[in-house]
Amino acid sequence: MRVLGIETSCDETGVAVYDGRQGLVAHRLFSQVAIHAEFGGVVPELASRDHVARLMPMIADVLDEAAGEGGAGMPDPASVRTGNAQIPVDGIAYTAGPGLAGALLVGSSVARSLGMAWGVPCLGVHHMEGHLLAPMLEAEPPPFPFVALLVSGGHSMLVDVAAPGVYEVLGESVDDAAGEAFDKTAKLLGLPYPGGPALAKLAESGRPDQYRFPRPMTRKPGLDMSFSGLKTAVLLAVRDAADDEQTRADIARGFEDAVVETLVIKCRRALHQTGRERLIVAGGVGANRRLRGALDAMARSSGRGVYYPRPAFCTDNGAMIAYAGYLRLAAGERDSGVIEARPRWSLDTLAPV
Ligand code: KG4
Ligand code: ZN
Repeated sequence: MRVLGIETSCDETGVAVYDGRQGLVAHRLFSQVAIHAEFGGVVPELASRDHVARLMPMIADVLDEAAGEGGAGMPDPASVRTGNAQIPVDGIAYTAGPGLAGALLVGSSVARSLGMAWGVPCLGVHHMEGHLLAPMLEAEPPPFPFVALLVSGGHSMLVDVAAPGVYEVLGESVDDAAGEAFDKTAKLLGLPYPGGPALAKLAESGRPDQYRFPRPMTRKPGLDMSFSGLKTAVLLAVRDAADDEQTRADIARGFEDAVVETLVIKCRRALHQTGRERLIVAGGVGANRRLRGALDAMARSSGRGVYYPRPAFCTDNGAMIAYAGYLRLAAGERDSGVIEARPRWSLDTLAPV
């Protein structure tokens, strides 16, 4: 089965084709960062409009690339109408939620319309299921079961993954997501949007232990997280600090170390609690180098394996949606035929594949 995947939940337009036999055969990503940068964050209406403009040309490009020798790319509408078109895929998967309502609707209505025109099944995919299955696209995918740390701009959660579709949320942030904390703290330090990568870069020249920020919710047992207090601690430090580059770098380093250590403590606890042998890390913050280093060290010392998607598939992308959709479509799942968009959607409610 060959599946077209479409991701438009936030500020990235992602399109990909996953083939059951050949694996990932084509993918494209367009990041709207430049559009939202001047506003210091994602402007939902601008995000939706840009998805509208980009999506169809990107789908055409990906289908052409996936077609290869003698295959079919984007079919022309006239031959689709007469029933003579060679349809390029066997199914279409789109991100149905969670995410920005308008942005989701662009992807879901395009996917559903193509599905109807081409006579192929469609399926709305959970964005976080996409993230947690992203490591399966790598050369050495993790065997099930495992614990997943999902850390993005919208979510921070630890999930027990017994098998595809069998998810138990073990803990999550009670306030800001880890990526959101990176972005807001970066803003406090005068860094451009999106703040995560910029803050990580500034932290490279920061000295450890010049600033020691709290490791929230690590003393008490449990796997929930909280990052909003950390941001407030940074705000107070910035207010009282000298306004020079080295001090800002030291604060950035202190913040990054606090987030990393907190996440490592929670991951170690989740592995211990579930008895799982493997950890996977996904979502935009999973691209953070210091976090990867610290998790690798934790895994080595406790004899566990840790797996990541390539950095480009840590952040939002169409490949993870094509893959998650492929698994479910190949197992016979279909959507109900309506255009689905679920801005809020709990991961626990998904059915096993
Ligand atoms: O998964 P993602 O692309 O989008 C969401 O679904 O939210 O994650 C984006 C988030 C942003 O908050 C961004 O600042 C953060 O991931 N991020 C990072 C790094 N790269 C991206 N945070 C820390 N270090 C990084 N290297
Ligand atoms: Zn995401």
